[in-house]
Amino acid sequence: MDEKKSSFPIGIFDSGIGGLSVLTHIKKILPNEKIIYIADNLYSPYGNLSISKITLRSKKIIEKLVTLNCKLIVVACNTVTTNLITNLRKNFNIPLIGVEPGIKPASLNSKSGVIGVLATKGTLSSSLFYKSINNYNLNIKILEKEGKGLIKIIENNKINELKTKKILKSYITPMIKKNADHLVLGCTHYPYLIPVLNQILKNKMKIIDTGIAVAKQTKKILTQYELLNTNKKNKLNLYFQTGESSKINYFLKNQIFNKIIL
Ligand code: DGL
Repeated sequence: MDEKKSSFPIGIFDSGIGGLSVLTHIKKILPNEKIIYIADNLYSPYGNLSISKITLRSKKIIEKLVTLNCKLIVVACNTVTTNLITNLRKNFNIPLIGVEPGIKPASLNSKSGVIGVLATKGTLSSSLFYKSINNYNLNIKILEKEGKGLIKIIENNKINELKTKKILKSYITPMIKKNADHLVLGCTHYPYLIPVLNQILKNKMKIIDTGIAVAKQTKKILTQYELLNTNKKNKLNLYFQTGESSKINYFLKNQIFNKIIL
């Protein structure tokens, strides 16, 4: 085992605070790991950008995380993963863990044969998403819905406003009416909406969030590369954002986001 390299940090990035929902699961099962998180909130939401722009931003962020000595990078964004993880893996010689909508677990566990997917426009139109719906939906009907406006609501901490519940209701009620029994959260920002979603769903649909699966995969790959940090000391985490400070600190109560230019 490379003792020195195993003490290096894990890099995580997203267009904003969405990836923090993944980070929470990673910290739970990998408590010894140091984390460097980059929120590219200057360019949020990614779902509305062109693929070439998202590629440019993702490459810049990964390059930065590599120069900061990260031993593995979690691409904590469905939009980036589903559109360009293959391209990114070709360009970087470092393990990259992606995040994609949980179509498989939802399809395998659905009793009604109907599932709903809430995701960004970028994810719903991606080649990887298209591939997964064709892989697992043999007898399953998939109802796709773009979560228009949701990233902004979450980034600006307007989750508990009445308007948010109304918007979510308009996205989800048609799925319930069509007998969907699983709701796949296809964006790492959306787990923050779970308390509001539960009020709407009233147990009619099971929510699928892939955050835990991504954390487990991260652990598996670190183990495989013999890069697990066994040192319990020095767990300093660093948080960066590219844009002006929004309401981002609200999500990480005792942590400070530093401004970074990329
Ligand atoms: N959290 C990102 C995702 O999982 C949001 C993308 C965006 O900014 O549109 O897709």
